[in-house]
Amino acid sequence: MMDSIGVGLIGTGFMGKAHALAYRTVKAVMGDVPAVRLVALAETPATKAAEMGGQFGFARATGDWRDLLDDPGIQLISITTPNGMHRQMAEAALKAGKHVWCEKPMALTLADARAMEAAARASGLKTQLGYNYTANPTYTHACRLVAAGEIGRVVHIRGWVDEDYQADPALAWSWRATLKQAGLGALGDIGCHLISLLTGLAGPLDSVVGEIETLHRTRPMPDGKGRAAVENEDTAAALLTFASGVKGTMVASRSAWGRKSRLGFEVHGTEGMVIFDQERMNELQLFQNRGPKALQGFTTILTAPEHPPYGAFCPAPGHQLGFNDMKVIEAAGLLRAIRDGARPPLDFTAGLEIEKAIHAIALSARDGRRVRLAEV
Ligand SMILES: NC(=O)c1ccc[n+]([C@@H]2O[C@H](COP(=O)([O-])OP(=O)(O)OC[C@H]3O[C@@H](n4cnc5c(N)ncnc54)[C@H](O)[C@@H]3O)[C@@H](O)[C@H]2O)c1
Repeated sequence: MMDSIGVGLIGTGFMGKAHALAYRTVKAVMGDVPAVRLVALAETPATKAAEMGGQFGFARATGDWRDLLDDPGIQLISITTPNGMHRQMAEAALKAGKHVWCEKPMALTLADARAMEAAARASGLKTQLGYNYTANPTYTHACRLVAAGEIGRVVHIRGWVDEDYQADPALAWSWRATLKQAGLGALGDIGCHLISLLTGLAGPLDSVVGEIETLHRTRPMPDGKGRAAVENEDTAAALLTFASGVKGTMVASRSAWGRKSRLGFEVHGTEGMVIFDQERMNELQLFQNRGPKALQGFTTILTAPEHPPYGAFCPAPGHQLGFNDMKVIEAAGLLRAIRDGARPPLDFTAGLEIEKAIHAIALSARDGRRVRLAEV
């Protein structure tokens, strides 16, 4: 019986804080998980590491992430650094015998993601990617409704993910605009989240027909001296064909003014429809073609203790979970998988399929043809 798991955290930005909060609260929320020891945190420079180590409650802090590798007190490493560092850090952590929780997207390129997946498989260690939206009890309830046939047979699926963090044409150029440091644009940043939700609902993808566009082709340099090229896409759209034969569509934009986290879907069935929107992450809309037509309409289902693990956070229905709570659920899944020797649902092998999907869309857009995931 594993009583506790020692963790090391690399990076203390948006996601670093989300992982730290999850580690700090997961035992108190869930109960049935191993306790977490906050062993060491890595950040650059070392002064910032020390400051954040104190704030997050880690026993020690370092300016060099490699210091975590030979620490025998660490069994699990969280990688929350920019995309271009994921492969190097994940491979080193696995080589050092540590389980890995890595933020999405897996890597800059499909070749890097494949190498990470191979390293994970060879290591026999547990891996998990940061697809937090799949941990939302509202989403898992939607999956259960669909699987239980509450909307009949699935006939069509639509997904969208829109944000506005690159909507302003005057926004300064940054590393996010480069293939070398960011990889894909809207597809890698947010499109992969949408694929994680759609494939969880409708199964694996077989092929895609994609379209991508860079709306703001150059951006002003931060120092005001000239402009530089934006190398990756602001928007993407795709026709999707799932292995089951079900067809669907998806759109993604990082330049959609007013949209903050409009990640959602509609699943159309022969007897009804289910709708989800992350900006209202505690609600599902369900339509069922049942009863008198005059009384039919969409029902709003507010997440409640009947939708586990909501009840672990709060005994009262409709009181609502938040973004960081999904990270707690993700952490719990990984800690249990490590304790039980089970496979985390979104490990590097499952994550590679998501990478294939987003890269297939980009390839299809470039070549102007349908691309099967099996060929990328
Ligand atoms: N799951 C999600 O919903 C979600 C949301 C946002 C970002 N992300 C992903 O998380 C990753 C990080 O994004 P973010 O928004 O947290 O970025 P961020 O810029 O807020 O944080 C990155 C952190 O990594 C640190 N860092 C950089 N190089 C380092 C090094 N060599 N050693 C130690 N620390 C180093 C930076 O100083 C910074 O604190 C990206 O891959 C991104 O795609 C996921």
